[in-house]
Amino acid sequence: MSELKYQAGFGNQHSSEAVPGALPLGRNSPQRVPLGLYAELLSGAAFTAPRVENLRSWLYRRQPSVVVGGYQPLDHAFLKTGAAQAQLSPPDPLRWAPTAIPEQPTDFVQGLRTLVVNGDPDAHTGMAAHLYLANRSMERSAFINADGELLIVPQQGSLRLTTELGRLDVRPGEICVVPRGMAFKVAVDGPSRGYVCENYGAALRLPELGPIGSNGLANARDFLAPVACFEAEPGAYEIIKKFGGQLWRAAQAHSPFNVVAWHGNLTPYKYDTANFMTIGSISFDHPDPSIFTVLTSPSDTPGWANVDFVIFPPRWMVAEDSFRPPWYHRNVMSEFMGLVLGQYDAKPEGFKPGGASLHNAFVPHGPDAEAFAKASSAELKPHKLDNTLAFMFETRWRLQPTAFALQGGSLEANYAACWQGLNDSFPA
Ligand SMILES: [Fe+2]
Repeated sequence: MSELKYQAGFGNQHSSEAVPGALPLGRNSPQRVPLGLYAELLSGAAFTAPRVENLRSWLYRRQPSVVVGGYQPLDHAFLKTGAAQAQLSPPDPLRWAPTAIPEQPTDFVQGLRTLVVNGDPDAHTGMAAHLYLANRSMERSAFINADGELLIVPQQGSLRLTTELGRLDVRPGEICVVPRGMAFKVAVDGPSRGYVCENYGAALRLPELGPIGSNGLANARDFLAPVACFEAEPGAYEIIKKFGGQLWRAAQAHSPFNVVAWHGNLTPYKYDTANFMTIGSISFDHPDPSIFTVLTSPSDTPGWANVDFVIFPPRWMVAEDSFRPPWYHRNVMSEFMGLVLGQYDAKPEGFKPGGASLHNAFVPHGPDAEAFAKASSAELKPHKLDNTLAFMFETRWRLQPTAFALQGGSLEANYAACWQGLNDSFPA
């Protein structure tokens, strides 16, 4: 595959044209757009949203996206939306072994498996965490999600996303985000697995840095948007739309990837987690895990995220007189975790790449007995945690598992046993 070009910067007013002269200058919707193109505005925020939160792009395309056939419902047994479709959820910590990628031909959309959900996309509240399990590229098929933006975390296999604004190559260690309502398709290079956060709430953005200052965590310049490109091949396309928790299917006679030029700040983007500037204690203890936040979707209550995307990347541990793994805790927030590669320091053996865990609101959790014993007696030299990448989707609302999550075969029956060795050592 050819090397792709990108435009750097988070939320920038990017502009790009695949054909010189296609992008109107000085007018967004001139009486006649160059090259016979149609102007179309894609708004990711209400028109009157504050300027700092306002997201929109102007697309100049060969046919407007209104040229599509009628939609019919499309069944999908494993894609769920909102807490209303969830199952009875026990207040236990839950963990899932890696789910096998199917043998039968399965593309990205067909391979979505919802594990946990909360909120309501019609209320712009909450999220869902899905696995994707795919072995086949989407060819003449495109997906539009009107319910939420999609944060994709590959765990096995590289993806090539074709979007209305251009293409993104994303490999394990990188993540990408597709805005709500934007058409895209996914090509795979073999059996592929990963995680998806479907964010029904406010668009993901960089967290405020407070006393950290103007540099650190995920830096804006490391977020990459695509450059314009379009499909020239004629022929029919299937459009699959997620709308109100239901999949719908329509046919159209042309590719939806027909945008010749665009400008604006509503874009898909990718980010390499190796560029995350990790901050931690250089004296004692360790800060709250919010220090690892890459992107955040705020709720209406300041500091209480609709969802935070948090990573635990390779880093040095140097704190003195400190228990270095995460502490035992209970939290009003709910935590869905995945592991891209390596080991997670609080669960060095049981948590496998491609697996997942759920520590819901006020469900106690922390290092397993083995990690506790090791960390309590370790000589506290500077130590590099290497070859590891865990992540968390953390949300203020309780996450509810689906029937697939509870009965699909990957739920571990004895997860909580990993803490049973934490004996009472109080001198009686
Ligand atoms: Fe936690």
